[in-house]
Amino acid sequence: MVRGPVVAELAIETSGLVKTFGSKRAVDGVDLAVPAGGVYGFLGPNGAGKTTTIRMLATLLRPDGGWARVLGHDVVREADAVRARVGLTGQYASLDEDLTGVENLVLLGRLLGFSRGRARSRAGDLLAAFGLADAAGRQVKTYSGVCGDGSTSRRASW
Ligand SMILES: Nc1ncnc2c1ncn2[C@@H]1O[C@H](COP(=O)(O)OP(=O)(O)OP(=O)(O)O)[C@@H](O)[C@H]1O
Ligand SMILES: [Mg+2]
Repeated sequence: MVRGPVVAELAIETSGLVKTFGSKRAVDGVDLAVPAGGVYGFLGPNGAGKTTTIRMLATLLRPDGGWARVLGHDVVREADAVRARVGLTGQYASLDEDLTGVENLVLLGRLLGFSRGRARSRAGDLLAAFGLADAAGRQVKTYSGVCGDGSTSRRASW
């Protein structure tokens, strides 16, 4: 796992984070300090504990040891505050493949309560921020979803 530079404002902070399933120690003391305002890759071999860690950060699993804060809120004691501030998706889970990238973003914005205009402008902002404007008008089913092993698994890849 790569550790990002420590700055004053952290989006994610964990210390000694642990999760066990029976005798299996799936996450064994993870320390993270992820700065706000960036894109952070969370990499590791199969079974390393990535998904389990993400599920704890998203309040879907309760840690068995250590602590984690997301945007300043403890994932156990302030789980509602964390849930109100984060979004979590797999690679395909929430996309309509017959729609274009920008149509999917506008749809999600509308579902979150944005007006049509605000959803469109926010979609444009995000596509520009991630350098994806060129792909925005293509149907999602034309996008590459190739996994590291060359398969086109539809499994969520986090
Ligand atoms: N609900 C569960 N019950 C029992 N064992 C589990 C459970 N969830 C995960 N594990 C085990 O915990 C370990 C970490 O799993 P996890 O899914 O977090 O790894 P990962 O890094 O996301 O792997 P992958 O790259 O395959 O997605 C694995 O050994 C897995 O079999
Ligand atoms: Mg995983």
